[in-house]
Formats: sequence, structure tokens, C-alpha cells
Amino acid sequence: MNPELPAIDDTPIWNAMLSVFNSQAITVALELEVFEGLTEPASVEAISNKLGYSQRGMKALLPMLKVQGLLDKHKGEYQLNNLSRAYMLKDSPYYWGPFFSRRAETLPNYKMILENIRDGETVEARGSADGWESGQMDPELAKTVTDFMHCHSITSAVGLANTCDFAGVTKLLDIGGGSGCYATALANHYPELRCTIMELSAVCEVAKGYIEKAGVSDRADTKAVDMFREDWPEGYNAHFFSNIFHDWSTETCEELAQKSYDALEPGGRICLQEILFEEDGDGPYPAAAFSFFMTQGTKGQQYTLAELESMLVKAGFKNVSCQRSYGYYSLVTAYKV
Ligand SMILES: C[S@@+](CC[C@H](N)C(=O)[O-])C[C@H]1O[C@@H](n2cnc3c(N)ncnc32)[C@H](O)[C@@H]1O
Repeated sequence: MNPELPAIDDTPIWNAMLSVFNSQAITVALELEVFEGLTEPASVEAISNKLGYSQRGMKALLPMLKVQGLLDKHKGEYQLNNLSRAYMLKDSPYYWGPFFSRRAETLPNYKMILENIRDGETVEARGSADGWESGQMDPELAKTVTDFMHCHSITSAVGLANTCDFAGVTKLLDIGGGSGCYATALANHYPELRCTIMELSAVCEVAKGYIEKAGVSDRADTKAVDMFREDWPEGYNAHFFSNIFHDWSTETCEELAQKSYDALEPGGRICLQEILFEEDGDGPYPAAAFSFFMTQGTKGQQYTLAELESMLVKAGFKNVSCQRSYGYYSLVTAYKV
């Protein structure tokens, strides 16, 4: 049985966690002179070209400024508004720049954050992204990263099991499942469901402990598979990805969608659990802040439903649908018909 859901969802905790990115974004924008660069309205592409910064970095930064009320957007172009003109421009008598640049000295990893936004590279202080890409992760890092992911996913996992319909799913493969919290929450909710957590080998070892704690050892197992380099197991009628597509570029997500389509049973479904951007790609706040965070340890970003749908349809999936699952998360589902 899953533990009973708390009476209140965990979005206030998410807000607190994400709020650390608010002033990081402003500090980076001031140092990179993004506000000065926007004295004329500009698209992501135009401002990237004008200032010589990466499009990925600007695509992460500008929405984060917009959700904080520091930029407006009109017909695809970002522009200054009363707030940024008053406080973010160097020639304003009310300029806040020196405050943020002095605080920058105390921001952990500030240089890395600045360079990632400017250059679109992903350098991370503790290196889990390197392990993900190479498919190699040492046991100590696997334990730390898996525990880190588990606590931010477990409430949403039990929430999803309560709100979304997985009736008819008999064999579920949780790809990059981490601790396996989604798979085990679903197995606890649906007694007929068997699941496998497909992960890097060192993470599988950690997931085994979580499976035991969830009390579903008779119906859940792990399979050590590098999702990029190795064949995926067959015989599953659901593939579940939580917070996986947001780790990777569009091209890599398309590759994952194709691998899923090829390995799924006919009639099977793919499920993507993600915090979605609205169609304009600028908000809501949690999507913008999580997307900004993704520049600090992954190759990815938060996506809109249309962007995910396009990746799925390209792989051959049909009947794409989306529902709010729990907290800030949505579940996108599509079928191999
Ligand atoms: C952002 S975490 C998501 C974990 C879990 N699905 C959740 O939502 O809490 C990404 C997961 O992908 C796994 N992963 C990364 N690269 C992988 C690879 N090449 N093959 C298999 N799993 C991989 C990581 O070990 C990590 O657990």
C-alpha cells in the first residue's frame, strides 16, 4: 500500500526550492548585460546573435526574467518594461546592479552558472550529468543523486497513482526510474501491475532498497541498461519516463521516443511525467525556474505539450493526450496503435 497522501500538496516546498534561481537569473542577466541588450525588443535568436551568447542559455534565462516581471513579450520578442527600465539599466539613478554583483561573490557555483547560460554548455559541480551521458556512475554518486531525486518525486508519484488511469497496464518499464518511486507507487495502486526499473547499474543497486521498502519486491525488479547504448527489454505495454525528457535536447528526446516506440508492445503506451511550459514557452513560474535549473546539470529544458507531442508523433505514436497529474506535474500519454 502507498502511504496516505499528505493533506496538502508539496508545491510550497517546490516554490521554496525553485526560488533560489530567482536572484541567480537576475545576477547572470546583469553581468551578461542582457537588459542593456534589450533596449530594442528581440527574440531569443536575435538577442543571442546580438550579444554572442548561446540560444539555449537565453532560452532558459529570458522566461525566468519574464516570470519575475522584469521583461514583457510581444509577438515573440522580449522587451524591457517599467520595472527593468527603472532598476536594471546602468544609466538609471535607481540601478540595482552593484547589489547583485556583490551578492554574486557569495553565490555558490556562480561562475559555473554564468558560463553555462552564456555558452550553453553544461558543467555541473557534482558531475551527475557526465555519468548520465557516459552511462557510468560510481556507487556513491548513484546513492546521493537517487536519494536527491526520490524525495522530490515521491509525493508526485503517489499523487499520480491516485489521479491517473493505468488500468490495463500489466507490464510497465520505468526508464531512468531512479529510486523507482513511480513504478512502485503504481504497483502498490494496481495489484495486477508488474514493473521494471531500467537504470544505470549503480542506480539499480540503490533502487533495490527502495523497492523492498515499498513492499513490492514480488512484482518489481530492476534491469541495468544504458538507455543510449544498449537494447531495451521487450514485452512491456507501458513505458514511463519521469523527468527524463527534460534532461536532454530535442534530438536526444526524439531518439528516446523512437527507442520506446520500437520496443513497446503494439497497443502499448508511452507516458511522460513533466512540468510543462505553457504554449508561449515563458511560464508558468515553476516551469521557467525548473528549466533554468536544467542548465546547471543537464542538456535539457522544460518543454511545452506541443514540443513533446511533436517528438512523440515523429516516432510514430498516436492519440497524444495530457492531464494534470499532481502538484506542478502533467502526464502526457500516447499510444503505439
Ligand atoms: C532526473 S532523474 C529522474 C529520476 C526519476 N525518473 C524521477 O523522476 O525521480 C534521471 C534519471 O535518468 C537516469 N539515467 C541517466 N542516464 C541514463 C542512461 N544512459 N541509461 C539509463 N538511465 C539513465 C539517471 O540515473 C537518473 O536516475
